[in-house]
Amino acid sequence: MQAGRMQAKDGGMMLQTIYCRSVQAGMALALRLLPWRQPQCLCGAGAVLRVPELLAAAGLSRPLLVTGPHIAASGLLTPLCAALEAAGFGWQMFCTVESDPREETAERIRDAYQAAGCDALLAVGGGSPLDAAKAAGALLARPGRRLAQMYGTLRIRRPLPPLCAVPTTAGSGSEQTAVAVIRDAASGRKVALFDLCLLPRWAVLDPDLLAGLPQPALAAAGMDALAHAVEAFLCRMTATRRVRAQASHAAAEILQTLEPACHGDAAARARLLVAASEAGAAFTRSGVGYAHALAHALGSCYGIAHGRAVAACLPPVLAYYGTAAERPLAALAAAAGIACGEKPAAAAQAFRREVAALGRRLGLPAGFACIRQQDLPQLAAAVLAEAHPLYAVPRLLDRRACQALLQALAAEGGQTAADSFPAAEKREEISS
Ligand SMILES: [Fe+2]
Repeated sequence: MQAGRMQAKDGGMMLQTIYCRSVQAGMALALRLLPWRQPQCLCGAGAVLRVPELLAAAGLSRPLLVTGPHIAASGLLTPLCAALEAAGFGWQMFCTVESDPREETAERIRDAYQAAGCDALLAVGGGSPLDAAKAAGALLARPGRRLAQMYGTLRIRRPLPPLCAVPTTAGSGSEQTAVAVIRDAASGRKVALFDLCLLPRWAVLDPDLLAGLPQPALAAAGMDALAHAVEAFLCRMTATRRVRAQASHAAAEILQTLEPACHGDAAARARLLVAASEAGAAFTRSGVGYAHALAHALGSCYGIAHGRAVAACLPPVLAYYGTAAERPLAALAAAAGIACGEKPAAAAQAFRREVAALGRRLGLPAGFACIRQQDLPQLAAAVLAEAHPLYAVPRLLDRRACQALLQALAAEGGQTAADSFPAAEKREEISS
């Protein structure tokens, strides 16, 4: 009886694997054929002051500045606003984008844009303002449609108003992605729009904008960026040679710069910002993995901030992949100068250890005590529904293994490092 059940389970997993890998093979081909374009990047201290110059060169003079309330109140935007004034722009501001923005917020941005007769979107902040501006752009590109009609892949297919994205965290990579994540009005769940038209026209990477970011927020965002790079690199089939080059460079840079950046090193902060952006460019072309699927489920169920959730989920997910990820993790280790000269198994293990140790050194939690036993089936179902069939991970999870991962995260919850983080994380605003 027991043997029969095991055989049926193995057969079910085999069919699931065949189905997922077939879909991923088709997706890998489609992703290679898409006409990707690069946002025009402006990098360096003070780069944000050149935004008026960028817009003016494109014949634009009435941007809608989209941001969140904490950034607007922080004074961070004062130099940019002064530069817009000095350029004689008739700009407007929308400064009430919340963390994990709702569909209604995108609609209000659209309304503000139209009411003020704007000609460009200028999004400044973490992933939330950038994604909200992208979603508003989709509504402007498709008047008469609701966002719910554009959820999913390639359902906008019209040019957005010119979008300039200015990140104030080194994490989401949204300034380089063709994705916008929004909270659906009906279900309250996070949903994604994916279309090449969501790629910003300009990405302005100014490390001065990160100078006042609290250390816990910088740490969590940086671990999110590291997960983008590692998960993009590990994708089977969808990770092209270019993606792997970008992702391994980004991962090495983040591993080298995140800790010094958190200790106030300005040069490291500048490198980290560029690396996080590079990780965004990589994962938008190949996808992410289970660390993100788990983090999204934990975020939806318990409101855990995305970066903290991803930081906790990445080490156990890398451990679960086991030998299936050994060679790519060894390649990432070599790129980062970890365990050079070791055999792949040892190098991969050293890389996993370094990722977990970095999270610990930065004071990020390794698990969450709030995960309840009775929630595990529903959480596992949400993880698998998000990841299958599209996430081209090295080794697929079944429901039981997924619940075991969640159980391990719950057990690590007692070792949560810093309960004071949430209050200090007001500027995190990362959604993807
Ligand atoms: Fe992320």
